[in-house]
Amino acid sequence: MPWSLATATKTRYATGFTICPEACRKHKRSNRLRPVEIEGSAAIVVGGASGLGEASVRALHARGAVVTIADVNAEKGVALASELGLQFVSCDVREESQVQAAVESAAAAEGGLRIAICCAGTGWAQKVAGSKGPHPLLPFETIVSINLIGTFNVLRFASYAMIPNEPLTDGERGVCVNTASIAAYDGQVGQIAYSASKGGVVAITLPAARDLAQYGIRVNTIAPGLFDTPLLAALPEEARLKLGAGVPFPQRLGQPAEYARLACHVVENRMLNGETIRLDGALRMPPR
Ligand SMILES: NC(=O)c1ccc[n+]([C@@H]2O[C@H](COP(=O)([O-])OP(=O)(O)OC[C@H]3O[C@@H](n4cnc5c(N)ncnc54)[C@H](O)[C@@H]3O)[C@@H](O)[C@H]2O)c1
Repeated sequence: MPWSLATATKTRYATGFTICPEACRKHKRSNRLRPVEIEGSAAIVVGGASGLGEASVRALHARGAVVTIADVNAEKGVALASELGLQFVSCDVREESQVQAAVESAAAAEGGLRIAICCAGTGWAQKVAGSKGPHPLLPFETIVSINLIGTFNVLRFASYAMIPNEPLTDGERGVCVNTASIAAYDGQVGQIAYSASKGGVVAITLPAARDLAQYGIRVNTIAPGLFDTPLLAALPEEARLKLGAGVPFPQRLGQPAEYARLACHVVENRMLNGETIRLDGALRMPPR
């Protein structure tokens, strides 16, 4: 049978392989024959107003993505969006209607939503039980609901919005990046709620990737160590330097841009799927 683009395309969708390099060259401008690239793709960064999310917004924007910033902090979100000329949507990740609306705004871009990064999260320090009594339930529920259920809300709505996208190389339609923490593995004294929430983010990564494989949507998680963001800025300078010095190498806090660089790599590397990547300078947190 003579080669035709229609047959080749049909075969490629069925097998997941591109079968004619010449056709790739000829049709390199066609969406069907390109990978998910940052340039020109629509992206949403939830928790994008500050810290690791803000760095991801800046990196994606610098590389030509059409970025929507979603965050509960409207003041910071609007300031960043107007600085970069981007769309901001106010969104609390605990509220499913708000997450859905934010994702829908991002997905209205030409070509649909291709990249979703969730950095929304916060911390809480309290022991499971002690002289002050048992850990109160409310802060535990709040932390799990922001860090875990919020991440799940972003993941489910963003991946659903990616399903109608035109499949690209290897049949890829989009990629989701979650943010856990090394506290998912090395929870310290007082981190019971935070560790539970981040452990959940690690745990959902593989099943989500498996659920979405049939649609060509990848799911990965980054587990940062200690990063110099407003989350740590509340600590005195001396304490921050001490934290940085405890990192084996390099002996310093991570820079948000280093997180963003990994997030961009995850977006571009199609073999990364269902994985949680520690980004921590070999740090293993001690009990306290
Ligand atoms: N900085 C670190 O050392 C570090 C280490 C490990 C993991 N993390 C994780 O990385 C993520 C980003 O943290 P960061 O250091 O950039 O902190 P950050 O405080 O600078 O940024 C977090 C962002 O999430 C937003 N947010 C908080 N609650 C939200 C909600 N309910 N709905 C929507 N947005 C909400 C905040 O407004 C903020 O813009 C968090 O999930 C955090 O747990 C940070």
